[in-house]
Amino acid sequence: MPTYENIISFIRKIYNKPEGFIPLHAPVFAGNEKKYLNECIDSTFVSSVGKFVDLFEEKIAEYTGAKKAVVCVNGTNALHLALIMAGVERDSEVITQPLTFIATANAISYCGAKPVFLDVDMDTMGLSPKALKNWLQTSTIQRSNNSTNQKETINKISGKRISACVPMHTFGHPCRIEEIAEICNVYNIPLVEDAAESLGSFYKEQHTGTFGVIGVLSFNGNKVITTGGGGMLLFMDENLAKRAKYLTTQAKVPHVWEFVHDEIGYNYRMPNINAALGLAQLEQLPEFLGSKRKTACMYKEFFSSLSSNITFVDEPSDSSSNYWLNCILFSNKKERDAFLKYSNENGVMTRPAWQLMNELVMFEDCETDNITNAKDIANRLVNIPSSSLVDHAF
Ligand SMILES: Cc1ncc(COP(=O)(O)O)c(C=O)c1O
Repeated sequence: MPTYENIISFIRKIYNKPEGFIPLHAPVFAGNEKKYLNECIDSTFVSSVGKFVDLFEEKIAEYTGAKKAVVCVNGTNALHLALIMAGVERDSEVITQPLTFIATANAISYCGAKPVFLDVDMDTMGLSPKALKNWLQTSTIQRSNNSTNQKETINKISGKRISACVPMHTFGHPCRIEEIAEICNVYNIPLVEDAAESLGSFYKEQHTGTFGVIGVLSFNGNKVITTGGGGMLLFMDENLAKRAKYLTTQAKVPHVWEFVHDEIGYNYRMPNINAALGLAQLEQLPEFLGSKRKTACMYKEFFSSLSSNITFVDEPSDSSSNYWLNCILFSNKKERDAFLKYSNENGVMTRPAWQLMNELVMFEDCETDNITNAKDIANRLVNIPSSSLVDHAF
């Protein structure tokens, strides 16, 4: 398989690793990680109170342009809380895309709601505003809620309220979030952005995760920067952020010694020790992003020079991607599978996109629109090694 051999040797050249295992995305700890971790341990403040956790929130807000950022233990519970705060309740429905990581759909289920799966755009791989508009026009009706006096959008067939819309910025490429936000506005549907994969990705120079009511980031070990495990909520509304901090700290009424809690809260606040790691990682974000862009450019050039039907998925127009995980598309599933087998057997980690959410047993009874693009991408896509490099081999 000469083409596959060429691809593998090119990846080995990029990572300057003629032999041995090349992971899909390994974290790089080349800054103040050990210094801050030691400082955190010496302070004894290793749990949810401490200077690093507050500083990490401040620095992420500053970088993303969010008014406030609130840490969480991971991206999944950040999504759960975001949905609760957006008003997602039992027996409602939440619009999302079938091409996503399981956490998006799980978080919807934690609220007792059901996902409705709509198609993605071929170029962004994220929720398609066209599919969204079309489904809302044909499958929903508007109703006025007598108690709140607010307009509600109701699924014509199930009779359920559409309580939120959760697009995802797939593999770091921003979706058409501005258009999606406009549509959600018209239908009075709260927009929660799953930006777990897109720290450092901008749509028309605005950071992903700042277009809706709440945005969610993840700092899992496989993301652009890591806190070991961690997540963040992004807010443009300071009062909502205040409420998020209260809910993530067991809904404790602030008092120096009294322990009073006045509603059901959550133990979702990221520990200081994880934030110490995160802060050191965040300092290196511009370098990581520069390196990832360089790798993506090399891949793009390589795949366009290759006489094959394999195409590199470039960043969509109007956006700047963090290129979290680089993607290539094969002409069909058979060729895709053959490459997955070849590359993994030869020590270079590659993987397909997730199995579509609507195909999983937990979600197979959920409403699913025409999802031609999502199916096509799921059949043909492969993620190739994308770790940041401190020094590029060439
Ligand atoms: C799209 C998406 N949503 C949510 C999550 C959940 O984040 P975490 O692993 O931090 O819980 C992830 C990543 O892991 C993700 O890729």
